[in-house]
Amino acid sequence: MTTVLVLNGPNLSRLGSREPDVYGSQDLDALRTLLVADAADRATIELRQTDDEAQLIRWLHEAVDSSTPVILNPAAFTHYSYGLRDAAAMVTKAGIPLVEVHISNPHARETFRHTSVISGVATGVIAGFGFDSYRLALRAVIGLN
Ligand code: DQA
Repeated sequence: MTTVLVLNGPNLSRLGSREPDVYGSQDLDALRTLLVADAADRATIELRQTDDEAQLIRWLHEAVDSSTPVILNPAAFTHYSYGLRDAAAMVTKAGIPLVEVHISNPHARETFRHTSVISGVATGVIAGFGFDSYRLALRAVIGLN
């Protein structure tokens, strides 16, 4: 069965208590449960979170080496991490889907959030639908495989 890596960047471990007006009141375990149910017998969901940019980059290298599709919420790294962008580019240039997701709509927020250095190398971008951003990305990724 296809594995889908669902990678989450800094501060997303605090979902549930972090700015619930922006990110909702559900945590990462709830997100995992939703995605596992959606994937059913079509994919295995491997959901991870780190606050560490180097770790996130290593996980993208792993995706390249294992040809594993990626759903990536780069969180604040979205806006400035060229290292993460270069790693994401390696994924998509290898022909592996990588969907950038955001819970909120960064374009409706502070100006610094309007820039994504990841979007230009992503297969696609889904933002602003809460946890449904991930669910829509999963549909796209499974559909692409
Ligand atoms: C986020 C949006 C980013 O601007 C922010 O830094 C996050 C979460 C989102 O999912 O809406 O940490 O990626």
